[in-house]
Amino acid sequence: MAHSTRFLLNNTEIDSSAPPGLLVLDFLRQHQQLTGTKEGCKEGDCGACVVLIGTLDGKRLSYKPITACLMPLAELQGKHLVTIEGLNLDHLNPVQQSIVNSGATQCGFCTPGIVVSLTGLIMTEKTVIDQPSVKKALSGHLCRCTGYRSLKQTAEDLQASLSGTGIKALIEQEMLPEWFSTVKRRLRKLNRSLQSSNGSLQNNGKPQVMIAGGTDLYVQQGELIPDQAIHVLDNDPELRGIEEVDNHIRVGALTTFEEFANDRLIQKMIPNIEGYMQLNASWQIRNRATLGGNLINASPIADMTIPLLALKSELLLSDGKKERLIPLTRFYKSYKTFDKGASEILVEIRLPQFSDTTQFHFEKASKRKHLDIATVNSAICIDVEEDLIKHIGLATGGVAPIPLYLHETCHFLVGKPIELSIIKEALTIVQQEIAPISDIRGSADYKRLLARQFFIAHFATLFPEIIKLRDLYEA
Ligand SMILES: Cc1cc2nc3c(=O)[nH]c(=O)nc-3n(C[C@H](O)[C@H](O)[C@H](O)COP(=O)(O)OP(=O)(O)OC[C@H]3O[C@@H](n4cnc5c(N)ncnc54)[C@H](O)[C@@H]3O)c2cc1C
Ligand code: FES
Ligand code: FES
Repeated sequence: MAHSTRFLLNNTEIDSSAPPGLLVLDFLRQHQQLTGTKEGCKEGDCGACVVLIGTLDGKRLSYKPITACLMPLAELQGKHLVTIEGLNLDHLNPVQQSIVNSGATQCGFCTPGIVVSLTGLIMTEKTVIDQPSVKKALSGHLCRCTGYRSLKQTAEDLQASLSGTGIKALIEQEMLPEWFSTVKRRLRKLNRSLQSSNGSLQNNGKPQVMIAGGTDLYVQQGELIPDQAIHVLDNDPELRGIEEVDNHIRVGALTTFEEFANDRLIQKMIPNIEGYMQLNASWQIRNRATLGGNLINASPIADMTIPLLALKSELLLSDGKKERLIPLTRFYKSYKTFDKGASEILVEIRLPQFSDTTQFHFEKASKRKHLDIATVNSAICIDVEEDLIKHIGLATGGVAPIPLYLHETCHFLVGKPIELSIIKEALTIVQQEIAPISDIRGSADYKRLLARQFFIAHFATLFPEIIKLRDLYEA
């Protein structure tokens, strides 16, 4: 039976038999002639294609800006897709007006995507509209004409024109079309009928490409996937959620970067998680990129894998019949080779519980501060009791063919006090454990230096009263 994807596109219900792996961007422009969504890089970098995806979760309907060039059509099942055309009114909406007022558009190619992202920001209830939040909303957008100063100035205009944020408030202020008030009811009805017709994409015996957020897959194989059989992992609710279970934290493999950073349990463990996350990708990509995809992509510089290694996470894998749990520190074997069977799905990541004395720190260097992959990244998770290191996890990316757990250095440090002489000794072991190569992101020597500086930065940040940066830089 041919698969069909049913969803709301702006104010219209769609039932499409187009290939499930077709890019949402191609569907909009080629099948629907909705050309307000622009095609720029088709790799998630420019933001010209940003659309809003509305998802109903119980009674809650929420919208996120994402890049349409990295999302398969099938994932729209039961959702609401909003394009720039769906946001238009018979007058300029406040976001469009603020862009005009700030002189923040010239050729206009980037403008629809920017309007969509900023609208996504103000559709979130209780959002504070200020320069940092507007900056975050603009993080996935490139503008080659106007520059970003005038775009950031839209924050003041928006502040002045909005008396409240959230869907209801925006409809009341005639800033969103009135039909938005019908969406929740229509999605509920659609989802009920999808449940009864079991509209998910199930394995039909053919090898399938497993798609989580698609942010790696579509960049690497964007042209090929529409012709292939796909398994959209989003259909499986078991892969979602973050919760405390027994003696660990269960993180569903489909947890996105943004969900991870915004989760209360995670924020309690890692108070600066939102700050660290700003260094990774853009808001629009973080709304799609999953922790599972980051781990299985097996990039030696993956920015979520390195912290998860330092945290000594475990992975729960399942082939549908059998489940097995394996420590992440033993998962990677060699470049892009890891301990997972072809039919196995990563179901969840288990994080150990933190004690009151556990501390975490992350460092990343890349060619650009934002929206760039790492040259070297590094994370530490450490527990010091009665002046001795009780537990320690250290991981560094970009210095080996795999995301590297520093087994020897950790082994050396356990049971030792935090003292300058010990840290200096440990630095020698770090340098023996790593084996960086020169590539486009930097020379082997530069990466060795970064690994060293990050190791020092971990201790100097977490134990500033004992380890002074100056002492070690002079070492
Ligand atoms: C513009 C841009 C910026 C980026 N910036 C960063 C960055 O700063 N830092 C960074 O680390 N990465 C970055 N990335 C890379 C990417 O976003 C991440 O690696 C992300 O975590 C991939 O997750 P995904 O869900 O999109 O994976 P997908 O692309 O869906 O999948 C990746 C691989 O994992 C497999 N897979 C996914 N989930 C599972 C599962 N549960 N079980 C079994 N197999 C699975 C897929 O089959 C595929 O082989 C960036 C990407 C883009 C496009
Ligand atoms: S086309 Fe550039 S982000 Fe999608
Ligand atoms: S206005 Fe031309 S690219 Fe932004």
